[in-house]
Amino acid sequence: MINKAPFNAMITAVGHYVPDRVIDNKYYEEYLDTSDEWIKSRTGITERRKLDADTPTSFMAIKAIENLIKNRGIGIDEIDLIIVGTVTPDMIFPSTACILQRELKAVNAWGFDLLAACSGFIFSLATAVQFVHSGSHKKVIVVGADKMSSISNMEDRNTCILFGDGAGAVLLEPTEDKEYGILDSILRVDGEGEKYLHMLGGGSLNPPSLETIEKKMHYVYQDGKTVFKEAVKSMADVSYEIMTKNNITSDQVSYLVPHQANMRIITACAERMGISMDKVMLNIHKYGNTTSGTIPICISEYWQEGKVKKGDYLILSSFGAGYTWGSILVKWAF
Ligand code: UT7
Repeated sequence: MINKAPFNAMITAVGHYVPDRVIDNKYYEEYLDTSDEWIKSRTGITERRKLDADTPTSFMAIKAIENLIKNRGIGIDEIDLIIVGTVTPDMIFPSTACILQRELKAVNAWGFDLLAACSGFIFSLATAVQFVHSGSHKKVIVVGADKMSSISNMEDRNTCILFGDGAGAVLLEPTEDKEYGILDSILRVDGEGEKYLHMLGGGSLNPPSLETIEKKMHYVYQDGKTVFKEAVKSMADVSYEIMTKNNITSDQVSYLVPHQANMRIITACAERMGISMDKVMLNIHKYGNTTSGTIPICISEYWQEGKVKKGDYLILSSFGAGYTWGSILVKWAF
């Protein structure tokens, strides 16, 4: 990404929300052939959050945005654009962005949803940056929000233990100080990944029917082992690539902010970059894989704990269904 604009896009506020209800590993032990020990050792997950069955993804996104707006101390009417990374929109249409615009009374904003599965936040952030660089948008909200409990088969031990519900949001604004902000992004897709990680039902290929319900096609399917191997390689490679391309050494990186799908993938990524684990943002142990939510929730929590400082280099990295993957380099601006 070569930015020829007279300014950069910088993150100026963060916010997040996770539901109150905690589901620990023991919950699954009660009815599935699994164990707390297996889940912890194979994934790094101890517990995750679950939204009420009748409450949609937009509820969490609204809470995350309200948190962000409060942190920035601005009015919602100042927002120009809302981009929502999600695979669990409230409904196929209208977009969740439209629902957020209405519920938040963001009277001057337009918006859209962007589907890139676990890379939803990274892809949305990279997209939002372009609107800021063009000079046409001054305040853009990017939300990563997913209610994975709505598409998880609670009888499938291969997948149900992995996922959680949550949302995180960032605000992007222009800065004339080109040293700060979103400095670079590398984004990739490989459509060959479809067969290993997908949800086949509900779209135009397999519209909802009794048959799609019976075949459980409205749930996440994952060939964990194949995806694991690809994720380790791709996420580690792209994180290393963005670091070297920008002449940033591992010592200069304040935080790796990886998608939180599996602790072993995260460790491999940090090792490849030569980064110690104390410089890796983590929330997988308490929230599991919240898909588009993992990265912005991490950043928001660490910021709220006072752990992110102006001038810090952050490398955000993700890998997910598609396949989709990528990295973003940020120099923290506030
Ligand atoms: O976020 C999007 C991208 N997704 C990812 O990056 C996830 C990538 N994949 C993974 O994280 C891992 O592959 C999993 C955590 C999903 C699975 O771990 P694994 O070490 O790859 O296990 P496996 O799939 O190779 O399964 C090993 C064994 C199997 O039994 P057999 O065939 O060896 O008898 C599974 O049936 O573990 C079994 N197993 C379980 N056992 C207890 C699978 N799930 C469970 C479970 N509890 N929940």
